[in-house]
Amino acid sequence: MRRRSGGAVWLNTVAVVVATAAMLTCAMCRNPVRHLVGGKQRWKPNFNYTNWSLKQTFYVGDWLYFVYDKHMFNVLEVNETSYGNCTDQGFIFNITRGAGRDVFELTQPKPYYFLASGGYCYNGMKVAVNVVEFVQAPQPSPAITSGGYVVTGINQLIMLLMVVTVWAIFG
Ligand SMILES: *[C@@H]1O[C@H](CO)[C@@H](O)[C@H](O)[C@H]1NC(C)=O
Ligand SMILES: *[C@@H]1O[C@H](CO)[C@@H](O)[C@H](O)[C@H]1NC(C)=O
Ligand SMILES: *[C@@H]1O[C@H](CO)[C@@H](O)[C@H](O)[C@H]1NC(C)=O
Ligand SMILES: *[C@@H]1O[C@H](CO)[C@@H](O)[C@H](O)[C@H]1NC(C)=O
Ligand SMILES: *[C@@H]1O[C@H](CO)[C@@H](O)[C@H](O)[C@H]1NC(C)=O
Repeated sequence: MRRRSGGAVWLNTVAVVVATAAMLTCAMCRNPVRHLVGGKQRWKPNFNYTNWSLKQTFYVGDWLYFVYDKHMFNVLEVNETSYGNCTDQGFIFNITRGAGRDVFELTQPKPYYFLASGGYCYNGMKVAVNVVEFVQAPQPSPAITSGGYVVTGINQLIMLLMVVTVWAIFG
């Protein structure tokens, strides 16, 4: 009985610590940003989207928002080769929904490529965005690196919590 209630107190303490850590972590979470493609120019020919794209930072979880004349244009996700050649053959994903306002979630840290078909790609309607993982700033300098795995402050905190939890349950 006594041992059991002692364990319960410990589990409560651990729960509070874990919840607090989760809140701290989430305080550092970032709200997703919806990037209006092309800014004021929106999605149209004769605009250099490379210039637009290079001025933004795209994080995993952000969205692209394409706004355009639905009677003229569309948006397709393609791979790098198709982007380079302005071809929509074998495109990856058709973002076009028909209203001239389409959203696309950037779910992975990688480059994404989009273009408009019907020849408009040759007039500049193509955009590449480089999506990166969000990292809290200021980032402490990497402490230990092993096999590409960087142990940062947050990772160490999580590891410590895991150790404390295991200790509380089995100790
Ligand atoms: C893109 O940016 C470069 C320099 O940053 C500029 O020289 C060029 O004119 C821009 N292109 C367009 C189409 O705005
Ligand atoms: C658009 O701008 C980028 C960066 O300034 C440049 O490398 C590229 O050649 C431009 N594209 C066109 C079609 O002008
Ligand atoms: C065009 O496509 C060919 C393969 O079909 C590829 O080798 C080439 O790199 C592509 N060009 C560009 C600019 O991506
Ligand atoms: C890009 O997509 C085209 C069309 O589906 C395909 O033929 C090509 O192999 C792809 N290239 C790469 C590098 O995945
Ligand atoms: C993309 O989807 C839209 C809406 O379903 C459709 O009208 C259009 O033909 C599709 N485009 C391609 C290239 O498949």
